[in-house]
Amino acid sequence: MQLSDRTVAAVTGAGSGIGRALALNLAARGAALALADVNEDALNETALLARPFGGRVSLHMVDVSREAEVAEYAAAAVAAHGRVNLLINNAGVALGGTFEELSQDDLEWIMGINFWGGVYGCRHFLPHLRVAAPARIVNVSSVFGLIGPPEQTGYAASKFAVRGFSESLRHELRGSGVGLSVVHPGGIRTAIARRARPGSLTTRPRAELERGQADFERRLVTSPHRAAARILQGIEGDEGRILIGTDATVIDVLQRLFPARYMATLDRLI
Ligand SMILES: NC(=O)c1ccc[n+]([C@@H]2O[C@H](COP(=O)([O-])OP(=O)(O)OC[C@H]3O[C@@H](n4cnc5c(N)ncnc54)[C@H](O)[C@@H]3O)[C@@H](O)[C@H]2O)c1
Repeated sequence: MQLSDRTVAAVTGAGSGIGRALALNLAARGAALALADVNEDALNETALLARPFGGRVSLHMVDVSREAEVAEYAAAAVAAHGRVNLLINNAGVALGGTFEELSQDDLEWIMGINFWGGVYGCRHFLPHLRVAAPARIVNVSSVFGLIGPPEQTGYAASKFAVRGFSESLRHELRGSGVGLSVVHPGGIRTAIARRARPGSLTTRPRAELERGQADFERRLVTSPHRAAARILQGIEGDEGRILIGTDATVIDVLQRLFPARYMATLDRLI
């Protein structure tokens, strides 16, 4: 699907990181934008940066884990722009800690945003995307949708779910004029690790949790701008699966070579 000033893109999680970079890259291509986030100030800031490119920008306060809000978002985006032909389900959160440190509520919280948020997006935008075809859905998974490292049970479960759902839907939509890409970014330099929730049942001291977060942040090497540019390249190339960063490529290869033992090799590399 070619991106142009005829593109109308709905982007969730547009207030920060990859979502903001996607909004700005799309704005630079002349696309009209229906931007959503749960953080109003952050969303307004993205709008301030995107509007000078001249395309139409609408803003939508949406908690993607609430289906009614996503349904309203789809209707409002189409009302504002006449149609939507690109949906990017990008909003996401992180959750750290061992399985025993995570409460059931923690797991349901992350599945609600990372998995159900994307499903609601697909459900409520798909009828509009079909009308606007050629159109595309982009669902953001992770390298943790390819491998499951320790202390990522909740996050990896949500991102494997995004991948399984997306691959099946992509095959289902073949020939419909609505394409689908699933994105597996490696470490991208955004606020995600800083904002990650520790498991509610953890008894670790705060300093240890902060050290863990800082260690994780050091592995976030690719800029959000590069990640967004790679996603747009994948959209234009009708790629079903978009890997971002050398780390993602290495992880993908290791997972194929050693499907049950990739962690040992990765531990050595890290
Ligand atoms: N940064 C990375 O290294 C990395 C790696 C792999 C995958 N990802 C995925 O990329 C996506 C974007 O993450 P990012 O790194 O840009 O993070 P980020 O924290 O910088 O941005 C995420 C945005 O999503 C918004 N958001 C959070 N909960 C929401 C909700 N319930 N409803 C609507 N918006 C909500 C936040 O307010 C924020 O603006 C996520 O799905 C994340 O899991 C990130």
